[in-house]
Amino acid sequence: MVTVLRHAAQLVGVTPPGESRKRGSAMGEVGIVEDGALVLRDGVIAWLGPTADLPPTPADAEVIDLAGKVVLPGFVDSHTHLIFAGSREDELELRLQGLSYQEISARGGGIQSTVARVRQASKDELKALARPRLRRLLQFGVTTVEVKSGYGLTPADELKCLEAIADLNAEGPVELVSTFLGAHAVPAEYRADRAGYLRLLRDDMLPEVARTGLAEFCDVFCETGVFDLQESEEVLRRAQALGLRLKVHADELTPLGGAELAARLGAASADHLLCVRDSGIEALAVSDTVATLLPGTAFYLGLPYAPARRLIGGGATVALASDCNPGTCPTENLPLVGTMACTQMGMTPAEVVTALTLNAAAALGRGDRLGSLAVGKQADLVVCSVPRYQQIFYHFGVNHVWRVLKRGRVVHVA
Ligand code: NIG
Ligand code: FE
Repeated sequence: MVTVLRHAAQLVGVTPPGESRKRGSAMGEVGIVEDGALVLRDGVIAWLGPTADLPPTPADAEVIDLAGKVVLPGFVDSHTHLIFAGSREDELELRLQGLSYQEISARGGGIQSTVARVRQASKDELKALARPRLRRLLQFGVTTVEVKSGYGLTPADELKCLEAIADLNAEGPVELVSTFLGAHAVPAEYRADRAGYLRLLRDDMLPEVARTGLAEFCDVFCETGVFDLQESEEVLRRAQALGLRLKVHADELTPLGGAELAARLGAASADHLLCVRDSGIEALAVSDTVATLLPGTAFYLGLPYAPARRLIGGGATVALASDCNPGTCPTENLPLVGTMACTQMGMTPAEVVTALTLNAAAALGRGDRLGSLAVGKQADLVVCSVPRYQQIFYHFGVNHVWRVLKRGRVVHVA
Protein backbone atom coordinates (compact mmCIF):
# COMPACT_ATOMS: atom_id res chain seq x y z
CA MET A 1 0.00 0.00 0.00
CA VAL A 2 1.59 3.27 -1.19
CA THR A 3 0.37 6.75 -0.29
CA VAL A 4 1.88 9.91 -1.73
CA LEU A 5 1.47 13.30 -0.09
CA ARG A 6 2.58 16.19 -2.28
CA HIS A 7 2.67 19.97 -2.41
CA ALA A 8 2.94 20.49 1.32
CA ALA A 9 3.86 24.11 2.01
CA GLN A 10 6.34 22.70 4.52
CA LEU A 11 7.48 19.33 5.77
CA VAL A 12 8.44 20.14 9.35
CA GLY A 13 10.58 18.04 11.67
CA VAL A 14 12.71 16.43 8.98
CA THR A 15 15.75 14.63 10.43
CA PRO A 16 18.44 12.36 9.09
CA PRO A 17 17.48 8.68 9.48
CA GLY A 18 18.52 7.44 12.88
CA GLU A 19 18.28 10.71 14.81
CA SER A 20 16.42 9.85 18.00
CA ARG A 21 16.54 13.08 20.08
CA LYS A 22 17.70 16.69 20.00
CA ARG A 23 19.48 18.26 22.96
CA GLY A 24 19.77 21.88 23.98
CA SER A 25 20.29 24.36 21.16
CA ALA A 26 19.77 21.65 18.50
CA MET A 27 16.10 21.65 19.52
CA GLY A 28 15.67 24.89 17.59
CA GLU A 29 17.04 23.42 14.37
CA VAL A 30 13.91 21.91 12.90
CA GLY A 31 14.48 20.48 9.45
CA ILE A 32 12.11 21.98 6.88
CA VAL A 33 11.45 21.11 3.24
CA GLU A 34 9.41 23.68 1.32
CA ASP A 35 6.85 22.40 -1.23
CA GLY A 36 7.52 18.95 0.10
CA ALA A 37 6.31 15.45 -0.66
CA LEU A 38 6.33 12.11 1.15
CA VAL A 39 5.98 8.55 -0.09
CA LEU A 40 4.57 6.17 2.51
CA ARG A 41 4.89 2.42 1.97
CA ASP A 42 3.51 -0.24 4.33
CA GLY A 43 3.13 2.23 7.17
CA VAL A 44 6.66 3.60 6.92
CA ILE A 45 8.16 6.72 5.32
CA ALA A 46 9.86 5.45 2.16
CA TRP A 47 10.90 8.78 0.62
CA LEU A 48 10.66 12.49 1.33
CA GLY A 49 11.91 15.61 -0.38
CA PRO A 50 10.82 18.47 -2.62
CA THR A 51 7.69 17.70 -4.69
CA ALA A 52 9.73 18.56 -7.81
CA ASP A 53 11.99 15.55 -7.09
CA LEU A 54 9.17 13.08 -6.37
CA PRO A 55 10.03 9.70 -7.94
CA PRO A 56 7.46 8.13 -10.31
CA THR A 57 4.56 6.78 -8.26
CA PRO A 58 2.91 3.40 -8.79
CA ALA A 59 -0.40 3.62 -10.69
CA ASP A 60 -2.39 2.29 -7.72
CA ALA A 61 -0.89 4.72 -5.19
CA GLU A 62 -3.25 6.95 -3.24
CA VAL A 63 -2.19 10.53 -3.97
CA ILE A 64 -3.16 13.33 -1.59
CA ASP A 65 -2.59 16.89 -2.74
CA LEU A 66 -1.93 19.05 0.30
CA ALA A 67 -2.35 22.36 -1.51
CA GLY A 68 -0.12 24.35 0.78
CA LYS A 69 -0.75 22.75 4.18
CA VAL A 70 2.03 21.73 6.54
CA VAL A 71 2.99 18.19 7.54
CA LEU A 72 4.55 17.35 10.90
CA PRO A 73 5.33 14.08 12.65
CA GLY A 74 2.28 12.97 14.66
CA PHE A 75 2.40 14.55 18.10
CA VAL A 76 3.50 12.29 20.94
CA ASP A 77 1.84 13.03 24.28
CA SER A 78 4.31 11.40 26.64
CA HIS A 79 2.56 12.08 29.98
CA THR A 80 -1.16 11.60 30.65
CA HIS A 81 -3.44 10.19 33.32
CA LEU A 82 -6.21 9.42 30.85
CA ILE A 83 -7.80 6.50 32.69
CA PHE A 84 -10.12 8.00 35.28
CA ALA A 85 -13.74 8.32 36.31
CA GLY A 86 -15.60 11.31 37.69
CA SER A 87 -14.68 14.96 37.34
CA ARG A 88 -13.35 17.59 39.73
CA GLU A 89 -14.62 20.98 38.64
CA ASP A 90 -15.49 21.67 42.31
CA GLU A 91 -11.75 21.88 43.00
CA LEU A 92 -11.46 24.75 40.55
CA GLU A 93 -13.87 26.71 42.73
CA LEU A 94 -12.07 25.70 45.93
CA ARG A 95 -8.79 26.94 44.48
CA LEU A 96 -10.46 30.20 43.52
CA GLN A 97 -11.44 30.54 47.18
CA GLY A 98 -7.74 30.36 48.01
CA LEU A 99 -7.13 26.68 48.83
CA SER A 100 -3.99 25.12 47.38
CA TYR A 101 -3.85 21.79 45.53
CA GLN A 102 -2.24 20.25 48.62
CA GLU A 103 -4.92 21.66 50.96
CA ILE A 104 -7.66 20.26 48.76
CA SER A 105 -5.92 16.87 48.78
CA ALA A 106 -5.63 16.96 52.58
CA ARG A 107 -9.43 17.42 52.77
CA GLY A 108 -9.98 14.21 50.81
CA GLY A 109 -10.17 15.84 47.39
CA GLY A 110 -7.41 15.50 44.83
CA ILE A 111 -6.14 12.10 43.76
CA GLN A 112 -8.08 10.24 46.50
CA SER A 113 -11.44 11.45 45.21
CA THR A 114 -10.66 10.12 41.73
CA VAL A 115 -9.42 6.87 43.28
CA ALA A 116 -12.82 6.36 44.92
CA ARG A 117 -14.57 6.78 41.55
CA VAL A 118 -12.15 4.53 39.66
CA ARG A 119 -12.53 1.73 42.19
CA GLN A 120 -16.31 1.79 41.60
CA ALA A 121 -15.91 1.65 37.82
CA SER A 122 -15.57 -1.52 35.76
CA LYS A 123 -12.84 -1.91 33.17
CA ASP A 124 -15.42 -1.45 30.42
CA GLU A 125 -16.71 1.72 32.02
CA LEU A 126 -13.17 3.11 32.25
CA LYS A 127 -12.59 2.30 28.59
CA ALA A 128 -15.84 3.98 27.59
CA LEU A 129 -14.81 7.10 29.51
CA ALA A 130 -11.34 7.14 27.97
CA ARG A 131 -12.41 6.72 24.33
CA PRO A 132 -13.68 10.30 23.85
CA ARG A 133 -10.49 11.61 25.45
CA LEU A 134 -8.40 9.57 23.03
CA ARG A 135 -10.56 10.81 20.16
CA ARG A 136 -10.00 14.42 21.21
CA LEU A 137 -6.25 13.82 21.45
CA LEU A 138 -6.31 12.35 17.95
CA GLN A 139 -8.26 15.36 16.69
CA PHE A 140 -5.47 17.56 18.05
CA GLY A 141 -2.87 15.54 16.15
CA VAL A 142 -1.70 13.05 18.78
CA THR A 143 -0.80 9.66 17.32
CA THR A 144 0.96 8.14 20.36
CA VAL A 145 0.07 8.70 23.99
CA GLU A 146 1.53 7.50 27.25
CA VAL A 147 -1.15 6.61 29.80
CA LYS A 148 -0.58 5.99 33.49
CA SER A 149 -2.51 3.93 35.98
CA GLY A 150 -2.47 5.39 39.47
CA TYR A 151 -6.10 5.97 40.39
CA GLY A 152 -6.73 2.37 41.48
CA LEU A 153 -4.11 1.85 44.18
CA THR A 154 -5.10 -1.75 44.94
CA PRO A 155 -3.58 -4.69 43.06
CA ALA A 156 -6.89 -5.45 41.33
CA ASP A 157 -7.79 -1.84 40.53
CA GLU A 158 -4.35 -1.00 39.17
CA LEU A 159 -4.43 -4.09 36.94
CA LYS A 160 -7.95 -3.13 35.81
CA CYS A 161 -6.59 0.26 34.66
CA LEU A 162 -3.56 -1.26 32.94
CA GLU A 163 -5.78 -3.78 31.16
CA ALA A 164 -8.01 -0.93 30.00
CA ILE A 165 -4.93 0.75 28.53
CA ALA A 166 -3.88 -2.46 26.76
CA ASP A 167 -7.39 -2.96 25.32
CA LEU A 168 -7.57 0.63 24.06
CA ASN A 169 -4.16 0.26 22.44
CA ALA A 170 -5.39 -2.85 20.64
CA GLU A 171 -8.46 -0.94 19.42
CA GLY A 172 -6.36 1.82 17.81
CA PRO A 173 -5.82 4.00 15.96
CA VAL A 174 -3.94 5.93 18.67
CA GLU A 175 -0.97 3.97 20.03
CA LEU A 176 -0.91 3.77 23.85
CA VAL A 177 2.21 3.33 25.98
CA SER A 178 1.46 2.09 29.44
CA THR A 179 2.95 3.22 32.76
CA PHE A 180 2.33 1.76 36.22
CA LEU A 181 1.84 4.57 38.75
CA GLY A 182 0.85 2.58 41.82
CA ALA A 183 3.01 5.06 43.72
CA HIS A 184 0.74 7.99 42.85
CA ALA A 185 -0.47 8.34 46.47
CA VAL A 186 -0.72 6.31 49.63
CA PRO A 187 -4.37 5.23 49.54
CA ALA A 188 -6.63 6.28 52.41
CA GLU A 189 -6.84 2.78 53.89
CA TYR A 190 -3.04 2.73 54.31
CA ARG A 191 -2.69 6.22 55.78
CA ALA A 192 -1.65 4.82 59.14
CA ASP A 193 0.61 2.21 57.52
CA ARG A 194 2.76 3.75 54.78
CA ALA A 195 5.27 0.96 55.14
CA GLY A 196 2.48 -1.52 54.49
CA TYR A 197 1.58 0.17 51.17
CA LEU A 198 5.22 0.31 50.12
CA ARG A 199 5.48 -3.42 50.91
CA LEU A 200 2.38 -4.07 48.83
CA LEU A 201 3.94 -2.17 45.93
CA ARG A 202 7.24 -3.99 46.27
CA ASP A 203 6.11 -7.54 46.98
CA ASP A 204 2.78 -7.77 45.21
CA MET A 205 1.88 -5.07 42.71
CA LEU A 206 5.22 -4.54 40.95
CA PRO A 207 5.99 -8.25 40.48
CA GLU A 208 2.47 -8.82 39.14
CA VAL A 209 2.74 -5.86 36.75
CA ALA A 210 6.08 -7.18 35.51
CA ARG A 211 4.76 -10.75 35.18
CA THR A 212 1.74 -9.68 33.12
CA GLY A 213 3.77 -7.30 30.96
CA LEU A 214 0.96 -4.76 31.26
CA ALA A 215 3.26 -1.79 31.83
CA GLU A 216 6.43 -0.71 30.07
CA PHE A 217 7.28 2.07 32.54
CA CYS A 218 6.99 2.63 36.29
CA ASP A 219 6.44 6.16 37.59
CA VAL A 220 6.42 7.59 41.14
CA PHE A 221 4.92 10.84 42.46
CA CYS A 222 8.09 11.94 44.29
CA GLU A 223 6.76 14.88 46.30
CA THR A 224 6.65 16.31 49.79
CA GLY A 225 3.78 14.60 51.59
CA VAL A 226 3.41 11.92 48.91
CA PHE A 227 6.51 9.70 48.40
CA ASP A 228 9.79 11.06 49.69
CA LEU A 229 13.11 10.60 47.91
CA GLN A 230 14.04 7.41 49.71
CA GLU A 231 10.63 5.79 49.23
CA SER A 232 10.63 6.82 45.58
CA GLU A 233 14.07 5.34 45.02
CA GLU A 234 13.02 2.10 46.67
CA VAL A 235 9.99 1.70 44.38
CA LEU A 236 11.93 2.73 41.27
CA ARG A 237 14.84 0.38 41.95
CA ARG A 238 12.48 -2.51 42.50
CA ALA A 239 10.71 -1.71 39.23
CA GLN A 240 14.03 -1.45 37.41
CA ALA A 241 15.15 -4.81 38.78
CA LEU A 242 11.92 -6.31 37.42
CA GLY A 243 12.66 -4.96 33.95
CA LEU A 244 10.48 -1.84 33.87
CA ARG A 245 11.82 1.46 32.57
CA LEU A 246 11.45 4.50 34.80
CA LYS A 247 9.72 7.86 34.89
CA VAL A 248 9.46 10.26 37.82
CA HIS A 249 6.97 12.99 38.76
CA ALA A 250 9.80 15.23 39.89
CA ASP A 251 9.94 18.59 41.67
CA GLU A 252 6.35 19.47 40.72
CA LEU A 253 5.19 21.32 43.83
CA THR A 254 8.33 21.44 46.00
CA PRO A 255 12.07 21.18 45.25
CA LEU A 256 12.65 17.69 46.61
CA GLY A 257 15.37 16.47 44.24
CA GLY A 258 13.34 14.16 42.01
CA ALA A 259 15.21 15.36 38.92
CA GLU A 260 18.56 14.32 40.38
CA LEU A 261 17.09 10.96 41.39
CA ALA A 262 15.67 10.37 37.91
CA ALA A 263 19.02 11.16 36.27
CA ARG A 264 20.94 9.00 38.74
CA LEU A 265 18.68 5.99 38.10
CA GLY A 266 18.81 6.45 34.33
CA ALA A 267 15.08 7.15 34.08
CA ALA A 268 13.64 7.74 30.63
CA SER A 269 12.21 11.03 31.85
CA ALA A 270 11.79 13.41 34.77
CA ASP A 271 8.45 15.17 34.48
CA HIS A 272 6.97 18.50 35.69
CA LEU A 273 10.11 20.19 37.15
CA LEU A 274 8.36 23.43 38.15
CA CYS A 275 10.59 23.62 41.22
CA VAL A 276 13.70 21.88 39.88
CA ARG A 277 16.92 22.93 41.62
CA ASP A 278 20.13 24.02 39.87
CA SER A 279 21.64 20.64 40.68
CA GLY A 280 18.64 18.97 39.03
CA ILE A 281 19.06 21.02 35.86
CA GLU A 282 22.75 20.10 35.77
CA ALA A 283 21.99 16.42 36.34
CA LEU A 284 19.43 16.34 33.52
CA ALA A 285 21.68 18.30 31.16
CA VAL A 286 24.40 15.66 31.26
CA SER A 287 22.12 12.61 31.34
CA ASP A 288 19.89 10.87 28.80
CA THR A 289 16.87 11.47 31.03
CA VAL A 290 14.39 13.61 29.10
CA ALA A 291 13.09 16.71 30.93
CA THR A 292 9.35 16.58 30.24
CA LEU A 293 7.60 19.89 30.88
CA LEU A 294 3.84 20.17 31.40
CA PRO A 295 2.99 23.88 31.25
CA GLY A 296 -0.75 23.16 31.16
CA THR A 297 -0.50 22.10 34.79
CA ALA A 298 1.29 25.28 35.89
CA PHE A 299 -1.29 27.27 33.91
CA TYR A 300 -4.27 25.51 35.47
CA LEU A 301 -2.91 25.55 39.04
CA GLY A 302 -1.64 29.13 38.69
CA LEU A 303 1.94 28.16 39.54
CA PRO A 304 5.28 29.43 38.19
CA TYR A 305 6.43 27.58 35.07
CA ALA A 306 9.36 25.19 34.74
CA PRO A 307 12.70 26.80 33.72
CA ALA A 308 12.64 25.66 30.10
CA ARG A 309 15.27 28.15 28.91
CA ARG A 310 17.76 27.07 31.54
CA LEU A 311 17.18 23.38 30.78
CA ILE A 312 17.64 23.95 27.04
CA GLY A 313 20.59 26.27 27.65
CA GLY A 314 22.22 23.57 29.77
CA GLY A 315 21.89 21.02 26.99
CA ALA A 316 19.00 18.89 28.29
CA THR A 317 16.62 16.98 26.04
CA VAL A 318 13.32 18.78 26.66
CA ALA A 319 9.88 17.36 25.82
CA LEU A 320 6.39 18.80 26.29
CA ALA A 321 3.30 16.84 27.25
CA SER A 322 -0.29 17.53 28.30
CA ASP A 323 -0.48 15.81 31.73
CA CYS A 324 -4.16 15.34 30.83
CA ASN A 325 -5.79 14.41 34.16
CA PRO A 326 -8.96 15.29 36.06
CA GLY A 327 -7.32 17.37 38.78
CA THR A 328 -4.41 19.48 37.63
CA CYS A 329 -4.77 19.67 33.85
CA PRO A 330 -8.09 18.66 32.30
CA THR A 331 -7.30 19.21 28.63
CA GLU A 332 -6.43 17.25 25.51
CA ASN A 333 -5.35 20.37 23.58
CA LEU A 334 -1.65 19.62 23.13
CA PRO A 335 -1.02 22.40 20.54
CA LEU A 336 -2.34 24.89 23.13
CA VAL A 337 0.23 23.49 25.56
CA GLY A 338 2.75 24.38 22.84
CA THR A 339 1.52 27.98 22.84
CA MET A 340 1.92 28.08 26.64
CA ALA A 341 5.48 26.84 26.22
CA CYS A 342 6.15 29.79 23.88
CA THR A 343 4.48 32.57 25.82
CA GLN A 344 5.09 31.38 29.38
CA MET A 345 8.43 29.55 29.17
CA GLY A 346 10.09 31.34 26.26
CA MET A 347 10.42 28.34 23.97
CA THR A 348 10.49 29.05 20.23
CA PRO A 349 7.93 27.40 17.92
CA ALA A 350 10.78 25.31 16.49
CA GLU A 351 11.77 24.08 19.96
CA VAL A 352 8.12 23.34 20.69
CA VAL A 353 7.84 21.16 17.58
CA THR A 354 10.90 19.17 18.66
CA ALA A 355 9.53 18.88 22.19
CA LEU A 356 6.12 17.60 21.02
CA THR A 357 7.52 15.10 18.55
CA LEU A 358 11.08 13.75 18.58
CA ASN A 359 11.93 14.46 22.21
CA ALA A 360 8.55 13.23 23.38
CA ALA A 361 9.19 10.02 21.48
CA ALA A 362 12.59 9.85 23.20
CA ALA A 363 10.84 10.17 26.57
CA LEU A 364 9.02 6.96 25.64
CA GLY A 365 12.13 5.21 24.34
CA ARG A 366 10.76 5.42 20.80
CA GLY A 367 12.91 8.16 19.28
CA ASP A 368 14.36 5.68 16.81
CA ARG A 369 10.92 4.78 15.42
CA LEU A 370 8.71 7.87 15.95
CA GLY A 371 8.82 11.63 16.22
CA SER A 372 10.41 12.91 13.03
CA LEU A 373 10.05 12.84 9.26
CA ALA A 374 12.79 10.51 8.14
CA VAL A 375 13.07 7.56 5.80
CA GLY A 376 12.42 4.39 7.77
CA LYS A 377 10.36 5.99 10.51
CA GLN A 378 6.75 5.04 11.12
CA ALA A 379 4.42 7.12 8.95
CA ASP A 380 2.56 8.87 11.79
CA LEU A 381 1.73 12.32 10.45
CA VAL A 382 -0.38 15.33 11.22
CA VAL A 383 -1.39 17.74 8.47
CA CYS A 384 -2.40 21.25 9.54
CA SER A 385 -4.29 23.86 7.52
CA VAL A 386 -1.68 26.58 7.92
CA PRO A 387 0.98 27.79 5.46
CA ARG A 388 3.79 27.99 8.08
CA TYR A 389 4.10 25.79 11.16
CA GLN A 390 4.53 28.75 13.52
CA GLN A 391 0.84 29.56 12.99
CA ILE A 392 -0.13 26.41 14.90
CA PHE A 393 1.10 28.08 18.10
CA TYR A 394 0.46 31.68 17.07
CA HIS A 395 -3.26 31.26 16.30
CA PHE A 396 -3.92 29.53 19.59
CA GLY A 397 -6.77 27.62 21.16
CA VAL A 398 -8.27 26.54 17.83
CA ASN A 399 -7.69 23.28 16.05
CA HIS A 400 -5.68 23.55 12.82
CA VAL A 401 -5.50 19.79 12.23
CA TRP A 402 -6.80 18.73 8.78
CA ARG A 403 -5.78 15.05 8.61
CA VAL A 404 -4.02 12.59 10.88
CA LEU A 405 -2.26 9.50 9.56
CA LYS A 406 -1.20 6.53 11.68
CA ARG A 407 1.13 3.97 10.14
CA GLY A 408 0.45 5.51 6.73
CA ARG A 409 -3.36 5.34 6.99
CA VAL A 410 -5.66 8.35 7.28
CA VAL A 411 -7.31 7.90 10.70
CA HIS A 412 -8.81 11.33 11.23
CA VAL A 413 -10.45 13.75 8.79
CA ALA A 414 -11.35 17.15 10.21
O1 NIG B 1 0.58 15.03 37.22
N1 NIG B 1 1.21 14.98 40.23
C1 NIG B 1 0.52 13.98 40.30
N2 NIG B 1 -0.39 13.59 39.45
C2 NIG B 1 -1.14 14.45 38.64
C3 NIG B 1 -2.29 15.02 39.36
C4 NIG B 1 -3.28 14.02 39.64
C5 NIG B 1 -4.55 14.51 40.24
O2 NIG B 1 -4.63 15.56 40.89
O3 NIG B 1 -5.51 13.74 40.04
C6 NIG B 1 -0.23 15.48 38.00
O4 NIG B 1 -0.34 16.69 38.22
FE1 FE C 1 1.24 13.76 35.98
